Amino acid sequence: MVHGAPVYSSIPFGEYTHIDLSESKKVDGYIDFVSAVDIPDENQIGVIIPDQPLFADKTVRYIGDSIGFVVAETHDAAILAAKAVDIKYTEKTPYYSIDDSREATENFIHESNLACHHKVRKGDIHKGFEESDHIIEAQFVTPFQEHYYLEPQACIAIPNGPDKIKILGSIQCPFYIQKAIARVFDWPYENILVEQAPTGGAFGGKEDIPSEICARAAVAAMKIQRPIKVVYNRNDDVQLTSKRHPFQMHYKVGVKKDGTLISSEILLEENAGAYATLSTVVSYRSCAQAMGPYVIPNIHVDSNSYHTNLPTTGAFRGFGSPQAAFGHERMMDVIAEELGIEPMELRLKNILQPGDQTQTAQILNNSVGAEDTIREAAKLANWETYTPNNDGRYKYGLGMSAIHYGNCLGAAGWHMDGSGVNIKLFPNGNVHVAYGLIEMGQGSETVVRQMTAEALGVSIDRITVLPTNSAQVPDSGPAVASRNVVMTGNAIRNAAEKIQPILKKSAAELMGCKESNIDIKEDYVQDSDSGTKMMFHELCDYLSKSNMDMEFTGWWHTPELEYDAETGMGEAYFSYSFATQIAKVKVDSLTGQVDVQNIYAAYDVGKAINPSGIEGQVEGGSAQGIGWATTEDLKMQDGIVQTPNLTTYLLPTAMDSADVETAIVEKPEPEGPWGAKGIGEPSIIPTAGAVANAVSNAIGIQMNEIPLTPERVLNALNLRRLKQDIVSC
Ligand code: MOS
Repeated sequence: MVHGAPVYSSIPFGEYTHIDLSESKKVDGYIDFVSAVDIPDENQIGVIIPDQPLFADKTVRYIGDSIGFVVAETHDAAILAAKAVDIKYTEKTPYYSIDDSREATENFIHESNLACHHKVRKGDIHKGFEESDHIIEAQFVTPFQEHYYLEPQACIAIPNGPDKIKILGSIQCPFYIQKAIARVFDWPYENILVEQAPTGGAFGGKEDIPSEICARAAVAAMKIQRPIKVVYNRNDDVQLTSKRHPFQMHYKVGVKKDGTLISSEILLEENAGAYATLSTVVSYRSCAQAMGPYVIPNIHVDSNSYHTNLPTTGAFRGFGSPQAAFGHERMMDVIAEELGIEPMELRLKNILQPGDQTQTAQILNNSVGAEDTIREAAKLANWETYTPNNDGRYKYGLGMSAIHYGNCLGAAGWHMDGSGVNIKLFPNGNVHVAYGLIEMGQGSETVVRQMTAEALGVSIDRITVLPTNSAQVPDSGPAVASRNVVMTGNAIRNAAEKIQPILKKSAAELMGCKESNIDIKEDYVQDSDSGTKMMFHELCDYLSKSNMDMEFTGWWHTPELEYDAETGMGEAYFSYSFATQIAKVKVDSLTGQVDVQNIYAAYDVGKAINPSGIEGQVEGGSAQGIGWATTEDLKMQDGIVQTPNLTTYLLPTAMDSADVETAIVEKPEPEGPWGAKGIGEPSIIPTAGAVANAVSNAIGIQMNEIPLTPERVLNALNLRRLKQDIVSC
């Protein structure tokens, strides 16, 4: 096996004119350099919009944009040789901010600087504003967030003859990689075998990005016909790969005196970076959820994603939902303050109930536990009786944040929202299950084991979950959007529906009883009439000896959705998870330091398949949300990330994370397996809004931009002192 390292643009925008390899070739162990000229078929890696070459074809659009790939005998030699490639450029003036990108009239990054646009048009907002007693406006800003999975991007590409390859990687989406490589080589999918290696974190950062890394390694591996390993070092990982989209948001909301929401006009603007990647998903989702889990008769939303000459932004736990949630939940507190209404009362007044319409006019009849999550979280936090003493240096506050999250890929991604499993019984009663989604630390393997055991009626000890491999199951779509429990759970149930009749028929034969009387549960097969029992493994042994089929597939796709992309109206998602988080903070008014002491959370997950797994997700999601809201401050200067390591980019540690208490609300979802809905992303979505609301409440200043670093909080406090001084003199 040999090693590869990326060669990338050192300028933010322009064209490369010359590549000089002479110094690179002098590095001991140098083998080869591949670039655009080595691509067998299509030089394209764009996952949704075809705007991104696998290797730059002259034009480079950010510092980190791929130009080539050096192969060498060792990892260190590859890195050295990659750095020694000398590239000449002609430069163009780069764009870094949303505002500059939007205002550009020439010198566009692509055909235009607008990466994508989504909208919602419901009711008559102008009439709605006329009918309102108050019209309240506010702007909100959220920053980049780096995934900072502890294991960097990594893969191995192993050629298998002239037209086949195997990929092993730290990845979220095996089938994305299969498609990406197929396109670059013009091969059928089955020539590309993709297997997920145990993956040390992802959070969306290993959704589409590994496709480019694996495809580049594949091009090089096929060219030199040797296995190649690529492991990014941390600096490159941070500079080259995607982040959470920064948002700037403008909310204008009309309300009645009593707090009833009447009309809303919302503009969301996103910094997409150099390529569209998954911006369309982020833009679509944030647009559809922009007003949160509330009833509103008139609403216009525009969500615009703008290209800049920065690293791409894409999938990151929630796909734009945490940003939109920051907008709608800060807005609810701003409205509450203006109207003098208690923030929980304002939310309860407008919260979605069964039978209500979402902002996209989708009627939700089932599994709407939104109000319960508010009440449960409030109970945990003692919301109604909390009265801190804020006379001293330390100021305390509570902040509430309520959200909804559309499960799975939604109307825009419906065509790929199906997933499969393959379940195999062995004569000794053991069971292997292969599935198309993946374990990335979220506990997927555990729930797949649980759900398989439950569906078959056997002990969980019998179940082995196989590493995810593209050859074992049909294309199951991406392992994203909190899909696993819902998709895989339903696919398992579908397989079990095929297995059960065969098991029952054989059991009836063996036990000499009626098929309809056979009950299989907890590892026993029982004739409910006579009470006779045998063990599950005895039945499997009989199946095997009587030459029966012992391998079964299961499949499930999300229900069809009626949705009009032109107006953004209709069924955006088939089902929604609901949640409320309340943050309790302590703010040091001398230093501006924010300490998030507690998160009180309540989640409507339909049915808790694994309650402690849900608590784990909420703890992890809250920690990541607290980081985004307070300490994680990704600095860019001239297109270069200034905070590429843990010394400068402050991830919350156990000491910074809050004490998290979680209440589970179960409003069964008829389409969910056993009634379940997703939890992975909902776990982070409300946190930043809750923290910012709590800080605003503690210090009495509306904090509409995160991260709430000590500097930002202190500046706000100082500005108020200054204003008070001016007033008093
Ligand atoms: Mo995640 S944003 O669903 O990869």
